Amino acid sequence: MGKNVAVVAAGVGKKFPMGKQTVPALRDVSLSLPAGTLTALTGPSGSGKSTLLHLIAGLERVDSGTLEVLGNQVHASTPAELAALRLREIGFVHQDFSLLADLTLIENVRLPLEATGTARAAATTAAREAMARVGLEGLEQRFPAEVSGGQQQRAAIARAIVGNRTLVLADEPTGSLDSKTGAEIMAVLGQLRDEGVTVVLSTHNPANLSHADQVAVLHDGTLVSFDTNEGGEA
Ligand SMILES: Nc1ncnc2c1ncn2[C@@H]1O[C@H](COP(=O)(O)OP(=O)(O)OP(=O)(O)O)[C@@H](O)[C@H]1O
Ligand SMILES: [Mg+2]
Repeated sequence: MGKNVAVVAAGVGKKFPMGKQTVPALRDVSLSLPAGTLTALTGPSGSGKSTLLHLIAGLERVDSGTLEVLGNQVHASTPAELAALRLREIGFVHQDFSLLADLTLIENVRLPLEATGTARAAATTAAREAMARVGLEGLEQRFPAEVSGGQQQRAAIARAIVGNRTLVLADEPTGSLDSKTGAEIMAVLGQLRDEGVTVVLSTHNPANLSHADQVAVLHDGTLVSFDTNEGGEA
């Protein structure tokens, strides 16, 4: 597990309480994601894609097995350690963008830095850079309602990479976009990968899989295949 591996899951299991019983959301998932690659998680609804992303982000706790993320043993980390790791190093892109409507795009993008105590001027500079990386220069002062869905998703991605966080987790980043805009967002994520960011996304859209270096297929919480796209990501 060197520095070149971003995520290592070994026998990871996760259950959720359901009344008096528990539902297994993930069972015995083992995989290894090289740093600087783009991985697509796919599989039917309820197969465990979001759960796996939440575990990697430290938003949920692993019940069994071990999970190493950016060199941190997250299965053994305290909630405070997980929160710190997330704030410093991990960006999460939600399907519904979750931008704050009352803040401009640049105010949204610099929020994670301000939350970790970065001074306003430095946070603004970093936010400007992150927005430029996803093609949003010139739209800094717009409010979310004043830009397109694709631009909102770009802003959510900028917020996820601001301050050079190196792992971006995106839960169905193209799920609420038309196919052309979805393809643009996949291109942005592919470009981040080319710049060295590790990207893990979930998707129902087969067209997105061609952008991935690895495709992990989940079924009923089990990893049923994990294939490397040899040589030619689109
Ligand atoms: N917070 C929760 N409480 C109870 N059960 C949950 C919770 N989150 C997920 N589950 C269950 O865990 C299983 C996996 O859900 P998950 O959301 O990871 O699937 P998914 O592959 O992301 O599905 P979708 O494609 O619909 O987003 C499902 O059976 C789901 O009902
Ligand atoms: Mg999901």
